[in-house]
Amino acid sequence: MTGGSGGGGRILAVESSCDETAVAVVENGRRIVVNVVASQVALHGTTGGIVPEVAARAHLRWMIPVLEEARSRAGIEDWSGIEAVAVTEGPGLAGSLLVGITMAKTLAWVHRLPLVPVNHLEGHIYAAWLLDPEEDEKPEPGFPLIALVVSGGHTLLVEMKDQLEYRLLGQTVDDAAGEAFDKVGRLLGLPYPGGPAIMSAAERAQHRDRQFPRAWMNDTFDFSFSGLKTAARREVARELGVEPNSLATDGVVSLPDSSVAELAYGFQESVVDVLSSKTLRAAEESGARTIVVGGGVAANSVLRRRIEEGAAARGIRTLVPRPGLCTDNAAMIGAAGFFRARAGERGGSDLAAKPSLKLAVAQAA
Ligand code: KG4
Ligand code: ZN
Repeated sequence: MTGGSGGGGRILAVESSCDETAVAVVENGRRIVVNVVASQVALHGTTGGIVPEVAARAHLRWMIPVLEEARSRAGIEDWSGIEAVAVTEGPGLAGSLLVGITMAKTLAWVHRLPLVPVNHLEGHIYAAWLLDPEEDEKPEPGFPLIALVVSGGHTLLVEMKDQLEYRLLGQTVDDAAGEAFDKVGRLLGLPYPGGPAIMSAAERAQHRDRQFPRAWMNDTFDFSFSGLKTAARREVARELGVEPNSLATDGVVSLPDSSVAELAYGFQESVVDVLSSKTLRAAEESGARTIVVGGGVAANSVLRRRIEEGAAARGIRTLVPRPGLCTDNAAMIGAAGFFRARAGERGGSDLAAKPSLKLAVAQAA
């Protein structure tokens, strides 16, 4: 490690890019000392989605209590045990990012620590480096690796040949996978967020023959999920015996439980099939040793299983963090922040929120 006051690789990390206010302390990019997350899910459940202004205000309300809890549980008194402060600089909601960045800048300034900016998407990838509490050690993800990042705002497939090096293989051309889960969940009258609700509804499906389209995008590594929304609307309209156009734009309808389960199953199968097929093919074609899956949708047990089984059959190791580390948290920012700090990367007092920050751009192999 470089810089700081010799804190033995302990990073304090702050994450507030979307709707979780989170602070964590992580050691050597791997061991979680403490990981505190205040979720706004209940708050946004009442509106069926995130209202940016409401999210930013909730971050303001919770940032200090979350920091205090993390600080006291980690036993941080004089801060000499902390090496650097890492923070998500983007992508995300501008107002939400600003709260975390301001907090991190203040902490770095007051305690004279390096400030390390982290890309939220690389955080989702680096969650795979984190150890579970009961784990003593496990080998780090081996390179080259293929990372599938599937969250509420992003869907991308990335190749990494080394730490912090990203080559974009493909991304969604319209909705993110999580967004599709949320929109279809809403259409089916399921609670927000749609991902977990669709997963459990799908488990109750009696008939598993409902077909939803798959967008293979000419066999590129790009994704498209907006057609699924239209297909779901068509199915719902058929079920109700009405014209698709007569459904309200994001019309929450009342369908029998069995139909909701069957539609949830068909929809989930389509998303999982496309995500897992493309990830496995990318891994095969690039000779990857490891597949890493991160982001909220990686909490989906069907997707996890499908990729794990496919990878095992090809002799490739899969690392999918436990569900609590797939959804937004600060431990993942602490993991990525450790490697960024080690590479000597620093943010100044002018560090700004970057709502549209990219992880990588497509480039030749
Ligand atoms: O990574 P994340 O917590 O926040 C963003 O950075 O966007 O991802 C949230 C997304 C939501 O769209 C949610 O519906 C989805 O992850 N999600 C799931 C599951 N759990 C969360 N999608 C499918 N299956 C799940 N079990
Ligand atoms: Zn995220």
